[in-house]
Amino acid sequence: MKTIIEPFRIKVVEPIRMTTREERERLLREANFNLFLIRADDVLIDLLTDSGTGAMSSLQWAGIMRGDESYAGARSWYVLQDRIRELTGFEHVLPTHQGRASERILFELVGGRGKVVPNNNHFDTTRANIEHTGAQAVDLVIAEGRQASARHPFKGNMDLAKLEALINDAGPERIPLVMVTITNNSGGGQPVSLENLRGVRRICDHYKLPFFLDACRFAENAWFIKQREAGQDSRSVREIVRDIFDLADGATISAKKDGLVNIGGLLLLRDLGLVRRADELLILTEGFITYGGLAGRDLEAMAQGFDEVVHEDYLRYRVRSTEYVGERLLAAGIQIVEPPGGHAIYIDAQHFAPHIPPERFPGQALVVGLYRHAGIRAVEIGSVMFGQSGTAPAMELVRLAIPRRVYTQSHMDYVIEAIIEVFRRRGELRPLEIAWEPPSLRHFTARFREL
Ligand code: F0G
Repeated sequence: MKTIIEPFRIKVVEPIRMTTREERERLLREANFNLFLIRADDVLIDLLTDSGTGAMSSLQWAGIMRGDESYAGARSWYVLQDRIRELTGFEHVLPTHQGRASERILFELVGGRGKVVPNNNHFDTTRANIEHTGAQAVDLVIAEGRQASARHPFKGNMDLAKLEALINDAGPERIPLVMVTITNNSGGGQPVSLENLRGVRRICDHYKLPFFLDACRFAENAWFIKQREAGQDSRSVREIVRDIFDLADGATISAKKDGLVNIGGLLLLRDLGLVRRADELLILTEGFITYGGLAGRDLEAMAQGFDEVVHEDYLRYRVRSTEYVGERLLAAGIQIVEPPGGHAIYIDAQHFAPHIPPERFPGQALVVGLYRHAGIRAVEIGSVMFGQSGTAPAMELVRLAIPRRVYTQSHMDYVIEAIIEVFRRRGELRPLEIAWEPPSLRHFTARFREL
């Protein structure tokens, strides 16, 4: 049988609301064509992000009731710590409220003026936390990872030659650590191979540098390794996950992705000196070291989520259902970042709307068009998001991020049909101009005008 079904049945449902075209027209105007400023209740299918938007399982909800809310040494903390130690082999587990809190603590400790931090592609918050300390964040993904239609099984791989060149140019003493993001979100949700991670490890060993992972989507990455890397298909995802973490000296993790929870994060470390200093910062702004800004019930739900995410039925369904959306769009002649990533499909908006030049925001025009036509919310990753600095982004993309275990195949069929209809009438997509923008991070609050 070819159909891969959702490996769960539904016990609790949450209504979603159909709006009329007239309502959406009004709402778009009221929000000045910025979909961040629309109420979620007015969105039918929300593909803004896969972060914190997943559905929890019955066992996670049971964990919510079991949560121990003691300030120090809560039972729920030990449940989580045991799970993470078992899954990753890391002895030192620090809880945080989300990924960027882990990043803030890490880079406050190792960043600073004159430092350089390489990555395949830094996620925005990682880059911002590095730059906030005065350090420089450098992206070194392989060349294929920068081209939408280039097919490569591990398009998130680090360019090892460029990494070595950077270390030599900058000098190893200026590089506090080397980071790799799995999967590579900013590069299209593309995986990194085990071989490439081993290559990074070898270079780090040679120059005596620590190797860190941004491991938000580690389970999806491990599934791609099992599917695509020579010699890995007979191994369990758990074994592959363990291999990945064994290579690293530390990891920042947003549990809002592969932790299958709505809030939570982790900082994993091996170096005891670093752990002691990180604990201090954790207590300063997040909370005591056994809860890190989370409720006991959140810790309990996280412990269960990190267990469920490595179930292979789940991962097969997860990655296949994303791929299904990508295949159908490609078959309709819509250019996406190929091959489909794990958590999202990225549409090439410049190809979709060739009549709209980058300075008139083709990605935002498509985002507006999708909402106007079908009540779907996506996010622009192009000139609106990155154009403020005056440098043109490599691609004009629209991301359809797929929340975990939330939408069924018929929801996704509706999304596919809607995108194809908008594509057929793409000449109607309207160029935009910015009517107002804040000094930075304009995509969240900018106001647009349709031309
Ligand atoms: N690293 C990566 C690769 C991410 O994708 C994110 C979040 C973070 C770090 C930060 O984690 O949000 O828990 O603080 N990505 C979300 C997204 C926001 O929509 O892609 P956080």
